[in-house]
Amino acid sequence: MKIIRTASYEEMSGRAAGILTAQVALKPNSVLGLATGSTPIGTYKQMIAAQKAGLVDFSAAVTVNLDEYAGLEPTHDQSYRWFMQQNLLNHINILPQNTHVPQGTAANLDEECARYEALIAGYGGIDMQLLGIGHNGHIGFNEPDDCFAPITHKVSLTQSTINANKRFFESADDVPRQALTMGIGTIMAAKKVLIIASGAEKADILSRAFCGPVTPQVPASILQFHPDVTLVADADALAGFPQ
Ligand code: PGA
Repeated sequence: MKIIRTASYEEMSGRAAGILTAQVALKPNSVLGLATGSTPIGTYKQMIAAQKAGLVDFSAAVTVNLDEYAGLEPTHDQSYRWFMQQNLLNHINILPQNTHVPQGTAANLDEECARYEALIAGYGGIDMQLLGIGHNGHIGFNEPDDCFAPITHKVSLTQSTINANKRFFESADDVPRQALTMGIGTIMAAKKVLIIASGAEKADILSRAFCGPVTPQVPASILQFHPDVTLVADADALAGFPQ
């Protein structure tokens, strides 16, 4: 694993955006796996700036997002489709038909998961997957579990994730209880993984994920077995790593 230690969130965002835009510059029809959450917002801002400056062209690129809440319309302001439109996709020259998020309102969620997995395979897999990490080590909505989920699937959110996300809803009761997520196997099949983290509150989980045992109780720990992972994190988030 390659570790890029930055002094700040802004620098983390700039380095991560540079890696993603370099991927697209080198391979214009790259399939980028994208993530939601507060951590990637700065990365997306820098990607938008790079495209506005003419440094990258997304017109042949494809995006596939990690996950989506079950039951939220794409126009719901807490849906991950909405997040992606507001924070990145509306502001770059990507073709709308090349952007994908699991459909949380599909009539049959299991069929939607199978469709999404086949869609990714149909593109030849993911060239670079961007990830954040949850406080419990989740990646996408792959929560601590007794086994690693192989493919895109439906999950029930843990109380810890409901609590972490309730700030975005009127109350905890409004947080959807289910979501669709790429599996750990889907993520591990990406050719490259780029994981970003910022702030002291991520220090404990980062060291458990990357300096501790590989276990489905810390889903991100499986990335220790991925052959091409880059971790871009600020010094506060890396506080538990050997200096
Ligand atoms: P955050 O979420 O970026 O808002 O910290 C990360 C995650 O839950 O994957």
